[in-house]
Amino acid sequence: MPRHIAIIMDGNGRWATQRNKPRTAGHKAGVSALRTTIEACATYGVDVLTVFAFSSENWRRPDQEVSMLMELFLLTLKNQAKRLHKNNIRLKIIGEKTKFSESLQSKMQEVEQLTSDNTGLLLIIAANYGGQWDIEQACLQMMSYASKENVSLSDLKVDDFLSTAGIPEPDLFIRTGGEHRISNFLLWQLAYSELYFTDTLWPDFDKDALDLAMTHYSSRQRRFGQTGEQLTHG
Ligand code: IPE
Ligand code: IPE
Ligand code: MG
Repeated sequence: MPRHIAIIMDGNGRWATQRNKPRTAGHKAGVSALRTTIEACATYGVDVLTVFAFSSENWRRPDQEVSMLMELFLLTLKNQAKRLHKNNIRLKIIGEKTKFSESLQSKMQEVEQLTSDNTGLLLIIAANYGGQWDIEQACLQMMSYASKENVSLSDLKVDDFLSTAGIPEPDLFIRTGGEHRISNFLLWQLAYSELYFTDTLWPDFDKDALDLAMTHYSSRQRRFGQTGEQLTHG
């Protein structure tokens, strides 16, 4: 069982297009697929679920789609806060939040605050997130910490300054929607994750699809640089 699952929820637009619907309908359907996955992960006792909701490159989309995504984000946080809290889920948002509207930023903070003492699943939403940005901001923070605290840079670790500091790295990475790329998601953190790609479009990703990814994961031997013999014979 993976402790940490990271997902690129891709394929909302194509799902809608296939149904002659506007792309925004795909994003709405994507929210309900996310709810299903969150609840399945919570039931399975997964510790951390990280999902890519909006990349630092997604601002390049048509204005109308971007503003609809922002509205959907705000609305979903409003509607789901109580349910997350009731399910003992702790929410954390990673990414450059200052680019969001004041109301979205304060809602994010409010839900993080509300759920901060929960002990169940840690749900991390990557929003205006980029893996390169994360590494860069970690290095900058590390440098300013070193000079302020008067410690040597070589005594500090990049991990401790990433937006996922203190959180174990993803064991299983899933990308739906058929593309085989990372698209600037967790670049540092995916170093040793098992990678799983499926053609299933995100709105169609359900518990059975998650089970399939889990089964795939459980058949992998994770060697972390060692030989297979070392692992089977201790
Ligand atoms: C992923 O689905 C959701 C976001 C990037 C917000 P897409 O919108 O990228 O769907 P496709 O790839 O166009 O089908
Ligand atoms: C990655 O999907 C970002 C999210 C799912 C939020 P994209 O659809 O933006 O990725 P590319 O553009 O196909 O690489
Ligand atoms: Mg896409």
